[in-house]
Amino acid sequence: MIRGIYLRNFRNYGELHLKTLGKINIFIGRNGHGKTNLLEGLFFLSLLRSFRTSQIDDLRKIGTGGFYLGSEIISESGISKYIEAEYYDRRNLKIDKNPVSRASEFIHNFRTVVFSPHDILIVSGSSSIRRKFLDMHISSVIPEYMPLLQEYLVALQKRNAYLRMGQGRDTSKEVRAFEPILADKGSSIVKFRSESLFKISGHISMLIHEITGTRRNFSLKYSIQKGTGNREEYLSRFDQERSRDFSRQYSTFGPHLDDFEFIYDDKSLKSHGSTGQCRLASLCLKLASMRIMGEFGMNGSEIVALVDDVTGELDIGTKKAFYSVLKNANQVFFTFTEKPFMDDFLKGSKIFEVADGQVVEIKGDV
Ligand SMILES: Nc1ncnc2c1ncn2[C@@H]1O[C@H](COP(=O)(O)OP(=O)(O)OP(=O)(O)O)[C@@H](O)[C@H]1O
Ligand SMILES: [Mg+2]
Repeated sequence: MIRGIYLRNFRNYGELHLKTLGKINIFIGRNGHGKTNLLEGLFFLSLLRSFRTSQIDDLRKIGTGGFYLGSEIISESGISKYIEAEYYDRRNLKIDKNPVSRASEFIHNFRTVVFSPHDILIVSGSSSIRRKFLDMHISSVIPEYMPLLQEYLVALQKRNAYLRMGQGRDTSKEVRAFEPILADKGSSIVKFRSESLFKISGHISMLIHEITGTRRNFSLKYSIQKGTGNREEYLSRFDQERSRDFSRQYSTFGPHLDDFEFIYDDKSLKSHGSTGQCRLASLCLKLASMRIMGEFGMNGSEIVALVDDVTGELDIGTKKAFYSVLKNANQVFFTFTEKPFMDDFLKGSKIFEVADGQVVEIKGDV
């Protein structure tokens, strides 16, 4: 459990120290006062990245030289550890005061699932949003996935650079040199994605039933690009596509261009779904991800749900079902703009008021 969190110069927070967090925490505050920033800080400590921006520099409080985040985590057996991430001129990561040089050794001290009003874009937005979700999900259950993806992306970037240089000179030798690694890593990525989507799809079907009380035909359809599921076929596809890649100046096939579709009652939600159906599918997607995380222990890394002001959009039945699935999380952080309706699930929560970068605990129920 995350016992406490310390933020310095992070977004709109100058200095904030929350020492005694609970199993369920509620942050209430008006628009623009720092609720999402707080969840973003927790997310950052879990993964060393943000769910809102790819620019780390956006996270430092404007006018300061960097930020610092720290958190005390207590395991189920009562062992406490202190993790720290400091980003001034350089990155400085520590666990129990010991410097950690590699991000992979720092991340996943706890795992997070974010529920946000923007989740609907995973269903209806661009393919890059879906790939990002899927990659984050797989890396939270399979530790070797992220390094695999990184190696693929580095090789892809280099091959693309040589494809661009090919306008001026013959770079086919260099372009070819990256193909075995791309076929090797790429086909493994496709295998992980395919297995994960199958699993997530099954969980979403069950969740839709639990939440709506009706059985619907639901599936996630992964459109695997020709040849990419098998290393040898992948390599021979390079032979077929290389000249096209040279003329387009980038690698025109591979998991970096993958996509998947949400199929509900035999129709694609992206092109035919109602807003409510897309929202339900995106909510179930995140809940499915959380349930699957629960099946993978990852060395005792606990599951923390960060619920950013989503329940206001849900009807009472869906809200109740949502809370009941959230019981699977080890710890939950909610944000609300108004005092929430006190469902049984929220009784006994720690409640905080967020106002202009200050957070104060409110004693007693709201
Ligand atoms: N790097 C930064 N430095 C200083 N202030 C920032 C920085 N980034 C964002 N802010 C400010 O932080 C404030 C709070 O943002 P946040 O997204 O946490 O609000 P919120 O409480 O979640 O609001 P809402 O209810 O509208 O979602 C905003 O006023 C924003 O301008
Ligand atoms: Mg917000």
